[in-house]
This record gives sequence, structure tokens and C-alpha cells, in this order.
Amino acid sequence: MPRTEFIATAFHVPERVVTNDDLAQIMDTSDEWITQRSGIKTRHWVSDGETGASLATAAARKALAKAGMRPAELDCIVYCTCTPDHFEPGNGVFLERELGLSDIPAIDVRNQCSGFIYGLSVADAWIRTGQYRRVLLVGAEVHSRGLDRTTRGRDTTVLFGDGAGVAILGPTDDPERGVLSTHLFADGRHAEKLWVDAPGLAHDPFISEQLIREGKHHAVMEGREVFKYASILMPQSVAAALEANHVTPGDVKLLVPHQANLRIIEMVQKAVGLRDDQVYTNIDRYGNTTAASIPIALDEALCEGRLARGDLLLLTAFGSGFTWASAAVRW
Ligand code: UT7
Repeated sequence: MPRTEFIATAFHVPERVVTNDDLAQIMDTSDEWITQRSGIKTRHWVSDGETGASLATAAARKALAKAGMRPAELDCIVYCTCTPDHFEPGNGVFLERELGLSDIPAIDVRNQCSGFIYGLSVADAWIRTGQYRRVLLVGAEVHSRGLDRTTRGRDTTVLFGDGAGVAILGPTDDPERGVLSTHLFADGRHAEKLWVDAPGLAHDPFISEQLIREGKHHAVMEGREVFKYASILMPQSVAAALEANHVTPGDVKLLVPHQANLRIIEMVQKAVGLRDDQVYTNIDRYGNTTAASIPIALDEALCEGRLARGDLLLLTAFGSGFTWASAAVRW
């Protein structure tokens, strides 16, 4: 069976940069609080006319150009998002249409911050079994329009940003390289600790003025609980990836963790026993872009020359659900 390799990566974020001081103009917060608690300085928010699909399309076109491929050479789209442009259909078909395609499958993955690794696991299985050869894996989010931009939502709103990151994946015959393993976890007992309640068909009617008045359409989070579980379960998922591949922290060239909070990343680094140069962070500039955070960080790390052929790359994520995941890749 062939392994799955990353053929190209790319990302696209909206031009509009929102600073912590900008947020302090619209809610009771401060640059000092946001920086100290999360490490975030700026994030990107969409402007009129931009959508999740438009960000994903821009990122996909950049990746296709890097790979020297035409959209028609793609066999499948795996689109990971928890902020779809519409209730249905999923965003994969909108991206497919924007790319001028009409004859390949598109699947949407709804696994929030772990979405990209869940999507990678799906794509990897299809590529290894030969079902699809060239898979466009997308993580894209537009959080800003769904956030409570008042003081009521400040604990959540200051953390999130918009953006899209993609990878084009395909088979490699080199037995030494490619995706070595993926490890997926979920525990629905914590589903309401970070969630968007409505619109939702558990409600009748599924959307109402009352639901909106109560702010049920905004993401809400028990921040301390999420923080606690993230800092325990992300290191556990990294340990699973190390153990499955019989490698040690010293063998890791780079860990690209989901960018939710700099303090969480630092705790993961410490728990796993990695040096600063083994962990990539860019949360200061993008905030938490959920399914897009890993592919954005991975593309930036590659552009900075942080990974070379043969290096061991680890990915790890944790988020709403709770879901969490890790992956090991021989670059
Ligand atoms: O993608 C995966 C999902 N997300 C995460 O992994 C995020 C996990 N959680 C966190 O990152 C942190 O819990 C937060 C950054 C959300 C909050 O940090 P914290 O140190 O846990 O603060 P806290 O929620 O305990 O709040 C401390 C204080 C509170 O005031 P009192 O009750 O102590 O008077 C909050 O009301 O900070 C207040 N506060 C704020 N103050 C200024 C909450 N949000 C803000 C804000 N600006 N934006």
C-alpha cells in the first residue's frame, strides 16, 4: 500500500487585520488581558463579500499553483469546517464549483479544531486504498460573523480568527515517507463545554427571535474546563503518535499544534518534553482559526524552512466535542 504525502500546502486569510486594541473599542477588554491569557495580538476577519468558500478557493488556487496542477487533476475534496457558509449543503460543493469542477466527490468534516487531522485521516485512508489519488484537504473558517462582539462574549470572541489552509495530498511509493499514522479521539460528555446551540433542529422552531435574544447562535465556552482538558489530552495524543511509531520526543523535528492558546501550547511542549525550536506557533498573528489553524501554521513553517525531507512532523489538536487528534508524518 502506498503512503500519503503532502504535495503542496497553502493558506489564505482575509486582508482585514483586527488588533486587540480594535476589540477594546467594541467590548470591555484590553491588549494586556488578551496577550497575557492567550498570546494573541491580531487576527484576520472577513469583509463584505468574503465567505468561507472564497477563502478556501483562494488557498486552494495557491496550492494548485505550487503543485503545478490544474483543478481537474483533483480526485476528491475533503472540506473541514465548523463554520459553514450555509446550513446545507456543506461547503465542499461550493469550493468544488468555484474551482470549476462538477464531477468529483466533496465531503464535509465537522470536527471543529480537530477537523484538519480528522480530515487527514479520511484522505489518508482513501489514498492508501487507492480510492482517490489526489485529495484537496481544506480547513477553513469564518468565525467573525458568528461571534458575540459585545462584552457578553468577550471570553470567546477575542480568541477566534478567520482563514483557510489547504493541503494537496497524494500517494508516494517511498516506504520511508508520508503519513505514518493518525490518532482520533472524541468524548461527547463535554459537548456543551464549547458549542453553538442554535440554529439547530433540536429546537422547534429551529431558529427564533428568542434564541437570538439569548445569544444561542454565538459560540460559548467554559474556558477553564476547555483549557484543562486541552492541556491534558493533547500531550496524550502526541504520546500515542510517538508510541505507535516507536520514536521519542528527541526524534521530532517539528510539532505543529492547533493554535488555540499560547499557554496551552507551552503546557503541551513541556508535557511532551520538546525544545522551543521543535514547536511551531503563529497564534499571535491569527488567533484560533479552528480547522484552518494547523494547515496555516504548517504552510508558514514550510515557508520558513522549518521542515526538510525525511524530518518527523507531528500534528496535534483539541477542541469542541470534545474531539482531539494527532498525526505523525515523515516529511
Ligand atoms: O480551540 C480549542 C478551544 N479553545 C481553547 O482551547 C480555549 C481554552 N481556554 C482558554 O484559552 C482560557 O480559558 C481563556 C483565554 C478563554 C480565559 O483565560 P482564563 O485565564 O481561564 O480566564 P477566566 O475565564 O478564568 O477569566 C478570568 C477573568 C474573569 O473575570 P473575574 O470573574 O475574575 O472578575 C473574566 O470575566 O477575566 C475576565 N475576562 C476578560 N477580561 C478582559 C474574560 N474574558 C475577558 C476579556 N477581557 N476578553
